Amino acid sequence: MSTSAPTDIARAVADVALWYHTIDLPDGSATPGWFDLRRVVGLMLLPDVRGKRCLDVGTYDGFLAFELERRGAREVVATDLSDHEDWDWPARMRERGAAGLAQLAGRKGHGFEVARTLLGSSVQKLELSAYDLSPEVVGSFDVVVCGSLLLHLRDPVRALEAIRSVCDGCFVSAEAVELALSLRHPRLPVSRLIADPTLCQWWLPNVSAHRQMLLTAGFGVQRATRPYAIPFGVAHPPVTRHRILRRLAAGGQGVPHAAVLAHPDL
Ligand SMILES: C[S@@+](CC[C@H](N)C(=O)[O-])C[C@H]1O[C@@H](n2cnc3c(N)ncnc32)[C@H](O)[C@@H]1O
Repeated sequence: MSTSAPTDIARAVADVALWYHTIDLPDGSATPGWFDLRRVVGLMLLPDVRGKRCLDVGTYDGFLAFELERRGAREVVATDLSDHEDWDWPARMRERGAAGLAQLAGRKGHGFEVARTLLGSSVQKLELSAYDLSPEVVGSFDVVVCGSLLLHLRDPVRALEAIRSVCDGCFVSAEAVELALSLRHPRLPVSRLIADPTLCQWWLPNVSAHRQMLLTAGFGVQRATRPYAIPFGVAHPPVTRHRILRRLAAGGQGVPHAAVLAHPDL
């Protein structure tokens, strides 16, 4: 536990330009995140992690990594990229996108470090692309989690194969899904190419395609959720468009996701 006075905590939190995650802090406050996973983490099919070696891929401010630690994991490693330039930007946005994001989000990884200190956490952070995960580099893990990352990758199945190479036990993939395509094609795997050259976003799968990507990468699927919405946090810019279908189908306002519990056996 941190011994910081509440004012120190508030100051440390305010020093982070943009909080992606809403994270509970020891003084009863929480980071002002864009997203609030606290309200849906119970739906995400996280297995019992007590005594296990765990990996969180693409951790951002570290909500999932800290949650694994809080639930009793023996060791938690979290990976991310510290430079916005290393993201899979579309060609025309390679320079402009990274600069824009850096301006909005500030120093990448600062939020993780602040939260780690305030929580007195032992999570170890590694700068590593999901594509570069290998047993030689990070060893192997009993439990691997990866949330809201595949959408940002040009080659999500390649990343899933790399994740599989370091997963000895089970893998939780909790990803953004395309709701309309999930309702229209419950069994047909379909992905929408987002094709917005201003965003670092590529493929948005329906629920079936998310599952199929895991199977294609060599995972066996044990359980899967229905779509649920990751709620916006207090700092998220107001969402002006009415998305009634989205809200009804995902059970609330936010970004539709689905989770799959998989294992590396073919
Ligand atoms: C939308 S955030 C998701 C954060 C968190 N995993 C969650 O579930 O809320 C995506 C994260 O993936 C990271 N990222 C982007 N490309 C990556 C890559 N190739 N390898 C690892 N992480 C990556 C970003 O830096 C960012 O922290």
